[in-house]
Amino acid sequence: MIVLPRGIGPALSCGITFLAKCMSMEKIVIFTGAGVSAESGLKTFRAMDGLWNDHAIEDVATPEGWARNPALVLDFYNQRRQEVLAAHPNAAHEAIARLESMFDVTVITQNIDDLHERAGSSKVLHVHGEILKARSSIDPELIHTLDTPTIAPGDRCAKGSQLRPDVVWFGEAVRFMDESETLFANASRVLTIGTSLTVYPAAGLVKHAPYLAEKYLVSPDVQKVPYGFHFMRGLATTVVPHIVTCWMEGRSPVR
Ligand code: OAD
Repeated sequence: MIVLPRGIGPALSCGITFLAKCMSMEKIVIFTGAGVSAESGLKTFRAMDGLWNDHAIEDVATPEGWARNPALVLDFYNQRRQEVLAAHPNAAHEAIARLESMFDVTVITQNIDDLHERAGSSKVLHVHGEILKARSSIDPELIHTLDTPTIAPGDRCAKGSQLRPDVVWFGEAVRFMDESETLFANASRVLTIGTSLTVYPAAGLVKHAPYLAEKYLVSPDVQKVPYGFHFMRGLATTVVPHIVTCWMEGRSPVR
């Protein structure tokens, strides 16, 4: 007979119950883009007043732009970081977090803000990186959470190179792709919110969703709806809480 130290038994059984609950919960993937944070005051990229209207991608979001003018790139992301720090999660972020009481939810986001985490989502994969972190410009593995809102020219990593934002630029490797493909493939429900689905490889993740999964795309306007997805036209803060409430009450979000 194995004798466990006092207190370990109940903790173990609690852990096993939690694991069993997670394993039996239905798996949901929430895939988000800039539109989910738009009503928190953060600009999207491709709207008329979007970020890529005012800034050239090649100047601020490529390794070549960084090599040409690091001060300009740091300034661009310092502004983004300050906006993120001043923003608050909205009703869509909050509704997504509520789903975790009934479902096994993973948020896969193209966004570099932390609004999903602040709303309470516990599993968030940032495929395009995170603005609140900095990384070494010579070692992509050397990452740390920033304790100031800015990265200045001359701020160095432990290996002596200039710090840069821990965001993925065009031409760089997108993160968590294998894990994300598996999560999509195993999901029984997929909710895609606020993305133009124009930037690959992240946009291609939607094609890994199973044929039989329940799949929605939420956006006020859209160029293309991925095959098998049901388009729900509207703002994230209106449509997402509706879908979440329906799912939690066992109803269909579509009338
Ligand atoms: P986009 O700016 O391309 O698309 C934003 C989408 O959100 C559009 O389809 C809008 O219609 C929609 N939208 C706007 N307001 C909304 C709201 N209130 N509720 C719901 N939807 C709304 O942004 P992304 O698709 O996220 O990558 O862009 C993808 C990537 O392109 C970004 O991660 C970034 C950018 O270049 C990198 O920088 C590597």
